[in-house]
Amino acid sequence: MNIQERKVGVIGCGFVGASSAFALMQSGLFSEMVLNDADRAKAEGEALDISHGLPFAKPMKIYAGDYDDLMDCSILVITAGAGQKPGETRLDLVKKNVGIFKSIIPEIAKRNYEGILLIVANPVDILTYAAVKLSGFPENRVFGSGTVLDTARLKYLLGEHLSIDNRSVHAFIIGEHGDSEIAAWSSANVSGIPLNDFCELRGHIEHDESMRRIAENVKNSAYEIIEKKKATYYGIAMSVRRICEAIIRDEKSILPVSSMQHGEYGIHDVSLSVPAIVGRGGVERVVSIELSPEEKEALQASADTLKKVIGDAL
Ligand code: LAC
Repeated sequence: MNIQERKVGVIGCGFVGASSAFALMQSGLFSEMVLNDADRAKAEGEALDISHGLPFAKPMKIYAGDYDDLMDCSILVITAGAGQKPGETRLDLVKKNVGIFKSIIPEIAKRNYEGILLIVANPVDILTYAAVKLSGFPENRVFGSGTVLDTARLKYLLGEHLSIDNRSVHAFIIGEHGDSEIAAWSSANVSGIPLNDFCELRGHIEHDESMRRIAENVKNSAYEIIEKKKATYYGIAMSVRRICEAIIRDEKSILPVSSMQHGEYGIHDVSLSVPAIVGRGGVERVVSIELSPEEKEALQASADTLKKVIGDAL
């Protein structure tokens, strides 16, 4: 079926899926959006609710649909799955959500879908790996939101710490979207000024303590938010919007999406986040950033953590 470039599908209309649909509607990137959920009434309700805002946005057709309606979408955003409960890790969701993916991905694969699968459900790295294997699709068009949100959190916290526009902060969280993630401090900068130098410019000299605290806050953000409001959804929805924008506009943006690794960092046969070029075709290639020996070691440990879970789950 011919892909309609300006058509997007969202599979799973829970908090994350509905918020992502709302963000995508406001982005103006698409002229058609299909919402799919095991609970058809939920998908219909979200489609209606978001459609009622269209007079304040741009013309779009937004409706609940089934797998056949999804097959000409340029991107399928897959958020279907259980979310973390207070105290649960993302990896605790693996059994249940791999099971859900084992019912969803074959429905897409058997219809010879030719667009991009953007995996968002958690544990996103494991589910991205599962989607690659279950679909048999080329790896460039099956990838996950990964640490795009964690990286946004890092930029936000550094912007607050340094009292600067967080869009001027260039730093990545890499590895698992989860407890073994790594802040790649050795390549972090503020508009080209090495981070520590800029910190001193702003009167901060306790670099190690500040960076430890900030990295910890990033890693624990979801737990903190879930404790307070039971789920996270706006930050991830904006991350989905950003990734879709890079794809649809063929921006060739460098984003830390979760993609299958083939040795750029000495890591193979696992999906995790390192900076990659994202454009119309999905992940064009991974790019190598400078890592300290400690960061390289931590990235390898993150990969090992994910591989162990994959081994047990698939
Ligand atoms: C979070 C979810 C999307 O980090 O994993 O908020």
